[in-house]
This record gives sequence, C-alpha cells and structure tokens, in this order.
Amino acid sequence: MRYAHIVGWGCYLPEQVLTNDDLAGMVDTSNEWIYTRTGIRERRLANEKETTATLAFEAAARALAMSKINPTQVDLIIVATSTPEFVFPSTASLLQDYLGARKAGAFDLSAACTGFIYALSLAANSIATGAVDTAVIVGAETLSRITDWQDRGTCILFGDGAGAVVLKGSDIPGGVLATTLRSDGSGGNLLSLYNGRGNAVPHYGTSYLNGHKSTIHMNGRQVFRFATSVVPESIEEVVEKAGLTMDDVSLIVPHQANQRIIDHAAKKLKLPPEKFFINLDRFGNTSAASIPIALCDAAKEGKLHPDDNLVFVGFGGGLTWGSAVVKWNVTPPPISPMRRQWRRARYVAARARSRVRQLARRLLAWIAGSPTPDARLKDADKRPEE
Ligand code: UT7
Repeated sequence: MRYAHIVGWGCYLPEQVLTNDDLAGMVDTSNEWIYTRTGIRERRLANEKETTATLAFEAAARALAMSKINPTQVDLIIVATSTPEFVFPSTASLLQDYLGARKAGAFDLSAACTGFIYALSLAANSIATGAVDTAVIVGAETLSRITDWQDRGTCILFGDGAGAVVLKGSDIPGGVLATTLRSDGSGGNLLSLYNGRGNAVPHYGTSYLNGHKSTIHMNGRQVFRFATSVVPESIEEVVEKAGLTMDDVSLIVPHQANQRIIDHAAKKLKLPPEKFFINLDRFGNTSAASIPIALCDAAKEGKLHPDDNLVFVGFGGGLTWGSAVVKWNVTPPPISPMRRQWRRARYVAARARSRVRQLARRLLAWIAGSPTPDARLKDADKRPEE
C-alpha cells in the first residue's frame, strides 16, 4: 500500500485588488451589504497578461520548489478549473509545457468549486494503486473573465487566483486518508456557465439560452441552501470514513464561498468557529483555487502541525460536493534564494525548449512539403461560404 502525502504547496494571487467600495462604484451595492452577507472585503483580479495557465504555473512552481521535486519527476498534472484557456488543449497541458514536466500526463478537471477535492481524490488514488508516484494538483481560476460585472448578485463574490499541492507516494502511513465525492446534476441550473454554443441541456429551456451570456449564472439563495445542507454532512461522512472522530480533527479548510455558510456548518457540527480556516475576506470566492489558497495561508500562519488531521470540504456547480481528510506530515525546510533562482532558470529553459520544438515541427513540415497550420487556415479562408 502506498500513501499519498502532500510534500509541497504554493499559491499565487494577482496583485490588483478590487475592494467592496470599488464594486459599490460599479453596481448598486455597498461595502456593508457585501461584508455582512458574505464576509468578503476584497478580491484579486488577473491583469491582461495573466491567464489561468500562468496563475497555475506560479502556484505549481512554488509548490514544486518547496517539495524539492524537479518537474521532470512529475508523473501527473491535474488542473481543476472552470476558466480554462481552451476546451483543448487543456490548461494542464499548457502548465506541463511551462514547467517542462516531460514525463507527465496532464488533464483538466471540471467540477466547479469542488474541483480541487476531486483532483486530490483522483491523484491520491492513482498514487495508492502505484499507477503514479508524483502528482501536481492545481486549482486555478480567472473568474473575473466570466463574471457579469453588472450583476450585483454574483460580481461581488468572485476573485482570481491559483493554489497547488505536490503529492508524493510513500510507504509511511498518512497523507490523504479518505475522500468522498458527490454530485446532484438535477441542480445544475442553479449555478452554471453556458458555453454559448447553442447546445444547452434541453430542459434548461430557451429562456436559459436566450437570457444568459457566457457569464456565471447563479441562484444564490438556492445554492446557499444546498451548501448549508451538504457541508456538515460531507465533513461527518469523510471523518468517519477515515476512521476518526470530530475530536481528532485539528483544522477544517473549507471552500471559501461565504462566511455564513461556514458559520452554519460550525454550528451544526457543534464546533468552535476557530476550527474552520477562513481567508475569504481577502480573496473572495476563487472557486477551485480557494481550498489550496486557504491551505497555503493556514501554513503561513503556523496553523498546520505534523500529525494534524485536516479536513478539506468543497461544494459548488454541478451540483457537486466532496471532502477529504489529510494527515499533515511535513514541515519543509526553507528554500535558499540561490535554489529559487536556479529553478526559475530551468523554467526559462523549458520555454526555450518548447519554442525550439515548435520551430522544428514547422521546419520538418516545410521540408516534407506538408502545409503548416497557418497555411491550412489561409486555405480555409479562401473556401467559398456554404
Ligand atoms: O462557490 C459556490 C458558489 N456560490 C455560493 O456559495 C453562493 C451562495 N449564496 C450566497 O452566498 C448568497 O445567496 C448571496 C451572498 C449571493 C446573496 O445573499 P442573500 O442573503 O441570499 O441575498 P438574496 O439573493 O436573497 O437577495 C436579498 C436582497 C434582494 O433584494 P430584495 O429582493 O429583497 O429587494 C437582492 O436584490 O438583496 C439584494 N441584493 C443586493 N443588495 C445589495 C442582491 N445582491 C446585492 C448586492 N448589494 N450585491
């Protein structure tokens, strides 16, 4: 039996801050309303050069540096996101290229705000079976690009960011002890992002198709009700599955959606609020990225100790929800600035290698006389309209 341990973690938040007061200048709302209803004070926004893959890269590079694992040792990369650059290639494949993780398989995972829990579960199970040894799991989002900035019911909630962990197989018991994953697709229309291609599920109706742009559509009240009912239940279920009791749990790191959802869970489980780690006041709801970002902050604040039992719990679109219990084993030593520089140099080299491969592909195509992708596009432009 192999155990999947978290051996590194990292997060990246864009610099630009959007405060509740800034939002009050954009839509009919106020700092007071947002803070009392959600607990959020401000969130971060990606700049025009930042994409989901670049945020994911920054978080993954930090997690790898901490774990002292080289990208070439990584077997599997999963990016949980609702805001991928493309349908394909996956953001995970872009990340694999940026990292120069030459031996890794890579794919994106779509489970909305529960995506990080799903990714953790899949990667940990792959490690437990011996199929892979080292995995990089990332939650990364640029939600600002799919937010309707005129809809005060949603635009006040979301933010951009990324968080990553490195999982490694070991014979030492611990790491990811148990996970539970759930879905209820009958509630899919409560929180959705339509892809705008005219093929939405028929029972969502034409009003859904006509009324919604490619921005987040949410029934806040209903999602709130769903979250408050599944979060406590899911935590209890996973703790039992891990063979533990609630007294054994040191810290719960929940998806950072709304302070009131977390308060409700604490009350229902009869736990003190301090058992739940919260940083949504500074970053808002970053969907799949929120749990690994919160984990990084908890580590920074000295809230994680060897042998602590941590619970992660996520919920969101799908509807999906899920939890994980992780035995925290490591306190990695700090990385020297020299080593950090060396790692950065490797990533520059990885980009250069990627460019060289692209050029070589073009050169070979030219020698073989086969049309380049650009030539094919030009050909397509010349074809008469049907
Ligand atoms: O990652 C998972 C994704 N989502 C969630 O977890 C979200 C879960 N839901 C929520 O967090 C809450 O439902 C919200 C924070 C989104 C909304 O809070 P609420 O207490 O459920 O408000 P509501 O939607 O029931 O609206 C109450 C009132 C309405 O006015 P009327 O009809 O009572 O006159 C809204 O129009 O508040 C109004 N309202 C606002 N007022 C000021 C809605 N949004 C705003 C706003 N500022 N930003």
